[in-house]
Amino acid sequence: MSGIDRRRFIVLSGLAGLGAWMRSASVLAVETDAQALSPRNLLRSPRFAQTPFTLGVASGDPAPDGVVLWTRLATEPLEFGGGMPAQPIVVNWELADDEAFGRVLRRGSALAHPELGHSVHVELEGLAPGRPYWYRFNVAGYATVIARTCTLPGEDADLERVRFAVAGCQQYEEGYYTAWRRIAEEPLDFVFHYGDYIYEGAANTSPHRKVNGQPFVNLRNHVGPQIYTLDDYRRRYAQYKTDADLQAAHAAMPWFVTFDDHEVDNNWAAGEDQDGTPSAVFLLRRAQAFQAYYENMPLRRSAFPRNGHLQLYRRARLGRLMDLHLLDTRQYRSKQVDMRNREEVQSPARSITGAAQERWLFDGLADATPRWQVVAHQVSLGNYAREKGDAVVTSDDQWSGYLASRRRLLEHIQQVGFKNVVTVCGDAHRHYAGDLVQDNADSGVISSEFLATSISSGADGLGIDAEARSTLAHSPYLKATTDRRGYVVCSVDRDSCIGDMKILDRVMVPDGKLESFARFAIEHGNPGLQQA
Ligand SMILES: [Fe+2]
Repeated sequence: MSGIDRRRFIVLSGLAGLGAWMRSASVLAVETDAQALSPRNLLRSPRFAQTPFTLGVASGDPAPDGVVLWTRLATEPLEFGGGMPAQPIVVNWELADDEAFGRVLRRGSALAHPELGHSVHVELEGLAPGRPYWYRFNVAGYATVIARTCTLPGEDADLERVRFAVAGCQQYEEGYYTAWRRIAEEPLDFVFHYGDYIYEGAANTSPHRKVNGQPFVNLRNHVGPQIYTLDDYRRRYAQYKTDADLQAAHAAMPWFVTFDDHEVDNNWAAGEDQDGTPSAVFLLRRAQAFQAYYENMPLRRSAFPRNGHLQLYRRARLGRLMDLHLLDTRQYRSKQVDMRNREEVQSPARSITGAAQERWLFDGLADATPRWQVVAHQVSLGNYAREKGDAVVTSDDQWSGYLASRRRLLEHIQQVGFKNVVTVCGDAHRHYAGDLVQDNADSGVISSEFLATSISSGADGLGIDAEARSTLAHSPYLKATTDRRGYVVCSVDRDSCIGDMKILDRVMVPDGKLESFARFAIEHGNPGLQQA
């Protein structure tokens, strides 16, 4: 034990309940900043009538040398304040070599601050690359489940394969999270969550409610009205996080998360909502939504919200096999425009990424080191059209509403010329697999995209319905689409990237049947989807 560790140990062991914990088992390292853990307002001997670990655990943003471990305390998850005393509380964590917790490698403590909704983010460093670890938290005699995470391989590692799930859009009222349960059971390296982790609306309990044109009764209801305040957002996350299937997927592997619109408000764009709320007022709501997002996600300190800003776009390198570029296409985007105004839709003055993020992305895509470049983002680059009334329409909220951004990105990919870019996203509540071409179509196929359907948003779905047929008819580069719930599993090796589009037959009943809707492969150096 180093001098610093000894000092921390001595101070900490004076805290009630920690002595026995420190004496048990052999511990290779203790990571605790005793001074930071002893604020004057500390609740020294917390007592809970029931477990405060109702929201599960999570890990995220893995790197070759570490990962973030997360939990959040709430004895009463559906109450404002989560049933927690308004004082900081010391939460203990342990990291083990094996699932049975036979050999504890690290042990430490962290503060659950009331200012942060009693969330805990432990940012581990100094771990070995490319291996699994198991972890758990405990406080006041209560412990979490033992959860699994893993570090990324070293940046020079010659990886054979990476497998990850692309998933999101988990409207709580519209279906069971069976897809999360199935993801938890898959042999995956990580989950990419593209956003819509929560939805902001009040429960829609109208007897006239319809989904897919059919009368619809919610499977379960959002608690409370539309969410605006930090307390509202915290409670909404808490409600979603009580779901056992969602908890299982978090406990099974690390996640890379980004947000889309519903973590704040439907179709928000930078400093504006779609309701005409004054920007200065909306930005107050956005700041509270960002704080709640940080509190509830396994994010690094680099994403700690500051002055109403949250740094979410970032990169991960998986050996020499692939770079993962995680985008934020909400915080810096220009406002949506009327799609009939083609000049505005195509205006180079408008952007979906903002200039700084675009430069950062272009730099990353020009790096020759990784075999594959995976752009993990929110909304479709596919530019899919369909009939709506008498018109053929594309979306104002996707890259189709920001055609100059789209054109610049595809041009850049083409100019760099590695022919190794795959994009993955969601938002549309349907699966789409398609090739990416310039909108004048004379570019040839530049890249391909797997757009993952929702976990639950949209309820059971209609399969290949009128909208799917219309979109296929008006979108020559779209290879497959369906209105079902599920997720995409991407399997990347040296030669190919295979996307398996998985669907559930039902989500309004438990344990829907999972099957593969379609599988496409992209060959390295030869852009375009091929049936696999
Ligand atoms: Fe969604």
